Amino acid sequence: MFARFLGSLARQNVAVEFVFLLAILVRLLVGLSSYSGAGNPPTFGDYEAQRHWMEITLHTPVREWYSETPQNNLTYWGLDYPPLTAYQSYLHGLFVSAFEPEAVGLESSRGYETPSSKLLMRWTVLLSDVLVFFPAAWWFVRAYYGGRSGTEQAWALSILLLQPASLLVDHGHFQYNCISLGFALAAAAAIIQEYEVVGSVLFCLSLNHKQMSMYLAPAFFAHLLGRSFQKRRPLLHVIKLGVIVIATFAVLWAPYLSSAEAVLQVFSRLAPLKRGLWEDHVANFWCTTSMLPVRAFKWKKRLSVEAAARLAGATTVTACLPFMWNEIRRPSKQGLIRGMLISGLAFFLFSFQVHEKSILLPLLPATMLALDSPWVVQWLAPIAAFSMFPLLVRDGQALTYVASQVLYLLIANPPPSGLGDSCVWFRLAFPASLIGVVVIHLGALFLEPPAQYPYLKAAAMTSYGFVHFVLLVLYLNKKVFTSRTQLERTLEKKES
Ligand SMILES: *[C@@H]1O[C@H](CO)[C@@H](O)[C@H](O)[C@H]1NC(C)=O
Repeated sequence: MFARFLGSLARQNVAVEFVFLLAILVRLLVGLSSYSGAGNPPTFGDYEAQRHWMEITLHTPVREWYSETPQNNLTYWGLDYPPLTAYQSYLHGLFVSAFEPEAVGLESSRGYETPSSKLLMRWTVLLSDVLVFFPAAWWFVRAYYGGRSGTEQAWALSILLLQPASLLVDHGHFQYNCISLGFALAAAAAIIQEYEVVGSVLFCLSLNHKQMSMYLAPAFFAHLLGRSFQKRRPLLHVIKLGVIVIATFAVLWAPYLSSAEAVLQVFSRLAPLKRGLWEDHVANFWCTTSMLPVRAFKWKKRLSVEAAARLAGATTVTACLPFMWNEIRRPSKQGLIRGMLISGLAFFLFSFQVHEKSILLPLLPATMLALDSPWVVQWLAPIAAFSMFPLLVRDGQALTYVASQVLYLLIANPPPSGLGDSCVWFRLAFPASLIGVVVIHLGALFLEPPAQYPYLKAAAMTSYGFVHFVLLVLYLNKKVFTSRTQLERTLEKKES
C-alpha cells in the first residue's frame, strides 16, 4: 500500500520530499509524549542528563568537563560520552540559553522542566536529526541504491527514517543517537563512493560522539583493510588512513592532550567498568542465559567484573572474526554493510555492559539493507522496538510505541514489488512472530507475574527478542560464507 503510494508520488517527483516531511511530522508527534525521568526527582533520567551537560559545558572550562570540581559533581550525571557529545551539548546549551537562560543555569537548573524549555530541548534533537541523520540517509540511498527506481529509493529512505526504535529513543525517551548513527551512516556512504579518507573522518566523528559506535568498527576496519590490499601500495594506504584517524582524534581531544592524566580522566569516564556485564533487562546472551535455571550461567555471581569483561571481549571478537576474515579477503560494498550488521549484533549479544538501547546499532545497517534484504528489516525493526518495551513503558511511551510500530508495519509491508519474493518460511514465520509479540503484550497487560518472579514480563520480552537476534546472526554468518560474488559465479559459468 505505502510503497504503491510512494510510486504514484515518485511519478510526480515528490516522493522524497514527502518522506522527509512525513518523518518530521512523526518526530513532532512522538515528541509530544513523555520522556526519560520526567518529573521524577532527585536524579530524573536521560533528559536531565542531557540538559545537565548543556549546563556544565556552558558554564565551566572545557578542561573540567570530565573532572570532579565544586561546580561539576560527577555523581550527578557526570559526562560519560566522548568529547564530540560535550561539544554538541555546548552548542545546544547556547541555543537553549538564547531563549531561556534559566533552563541551563549553573546549579540552579537541576530538574528544570518548564513547558517552554521542554519544547526547546525537543527542538535540539529534531534539529540534530534533520541536520545530520537526514542528509546522511539521503546520501547513503543515492550512493548505494543510485541505480534503483524512484519508488524503491523513497521506500528505502522511509525505512531509514521511520524505523520505530530510533524514533522512540531519540524523540521520546530523549537522546541524540541520530548524531552518532548519522555520522556512521554518512561514513558508509562515503566509503561506498570510494571517498575513504572522508569516510574514515566521519566514522571517527561517530566514535567520538558515542563510544558505542565501536559496535560497527570491525566492519569498517575489515573493509578498509581489505580494500587497501587491492591497491598498488597497500602499506602506504593503511598508513595514510591511520594518520587520518589519529589526526581526527587529536583535534577532537585537543583540550585534554596536555597531560596523560587528563586523557586518562576522560577515558575513565567513558569505560565505567563497575556498571557490570549488563544493565536492566537486555536481550543479549549474558542477561538471557543468566535467567536459565543453570548455576554455571549465573554470570554476575560467578565472575568478577574483570573476568566478565575479559570473557565478554573474547566472545565478541570471536563472533566477529569469521565475517572480518571474509571481508578482508573479498571486500565489497554489500560486505561492508552486512559486516556492520553482524558486528553490531555480535557486540549487542556478547560485549560488556550492553544497554537495551544498544540494539539501535545493529538496526542501522539492517535498515541500510532495505532493498537488498527487505525481510531482515521488516522483521528486525519491530522486534527490536519490542525488546525495548520495558524501558519505553517506564518512560510513559506505551501509546507512541504502539502508534509507531503500527505505522512502521504499514510502511514496510509489503515492500515495493520486484524486490525479489520473500521465501516461504519468512511468509510463515514473520506473522507467527508478530502474533507472539501481541500475545506477550496482552499477557503482560492482563496477567500478574507470580510473586517470586517480579521481572517475568520484562524477561519474557527481552528473551523473545534474544531468540530472534541469535537466529539472525547465525543466518547472516552462514550467508556470508555461502553467497558467492558475482565474479565467482561468472567464472564458474565460463568453466562449465
Ligand atoms: C553529588 O550528587 C549526588 C547525587 O545527586 C549527591 O548525593 C551528593 O551529595 C553530591 N555531592 C556534592 C559534593 O554535592
